[in-house]
Amino acid sequence: MSGQDAHDAPDTAHSGGTRRDFLYFATAGAGAVTTGAAIWPLINSMNPSADVLSASKIDVDVSSLETGQRLTVKWQGKPVFIWRRSQSDIEAARAVSLEDLVDPVDTAKEDPNHKSPVPALDENRVFDPDGEWLVVIGVCTHLGCVPLGQDGGAIGDFGGWFCPCHGSHYDTSGRIRKGPAPRNLDIPPYTLGEDLRLTIGV
Ligand code: FES
Repeated sequence: MSGQDAHDAPDTAHSGGTRRDFLYFATAGAGAVTTGAAIWPLINSMNPSADVLSASKIDVDVSSLETGQRLTVKWQGKPVFIWRRSQSDIEAARAVSLEDLVDPVDTAKEDPNHKSPVPALDENRVFDPDGEWLVVIGVCTHLGCVPLGQDGGAIGDFGGWFCPCHGSHYDTSGRIRKGPAPRNLDIPPYTLGEDLRLTIGV
C-alpha cells in the first residue's frame, strides 16, 4: 500500500550517545537496500559508491524489522531514519497538540508526500494505517548535524532523537520540541507496499 493514499490523507536511552551515531550506518540484517543493480552494504558504510550517492530512488525491504527497531539508509547522500514504532511511541506522538509544537505545519517541501501544507499531526507524518512506520530525513534542521538515537544512543527528552551539536530534541514523530532547530525533521517522498517494500524517492 502506498502511504495513506499516496499520501494525500497519510525505546530508549537518553542524551549522551556515541560517536557511532554520527556515522551514516544501517543495522545489519534488518533490511535490504537496492538501487537498481547496486546493493549497498548495510554496515557502517562511510564511503558509499557514487551510484548510491546519486540514486534518486532506493528500495528497502523493511519486512524483517521488528517493532521498536530503527534502520538508517542513505538516499541522495543523506541519512534516512526508518523506525517501526511501538504502540506507546505512536500514542505519545498522537497525544501532542498542535499548540505544543514549535513547528505546527509541514509544508509540501518539508513533506512532499502532501501537495499542500498540512498540520504536523502524527497522523499526517506517517502513511500506513497503523502508523507504525516513521520515515524521516536524519538531518537536524538547525545546522545539519545527524541526530542521535538510531542505534540505541541518545533519544532526547521526547523519545525520538537528540542532536548533540546544539541540543535539539525531536519527538517520536520527528518533530522539533526543544532546542534551536526551527523545523521538524523533513520527510522524503516515499511509498510503502503491503509487502513492506519501502521505496524512497520518486
Ligand atoms: S545542528 Fe542540530 S542543534 Fe544545531
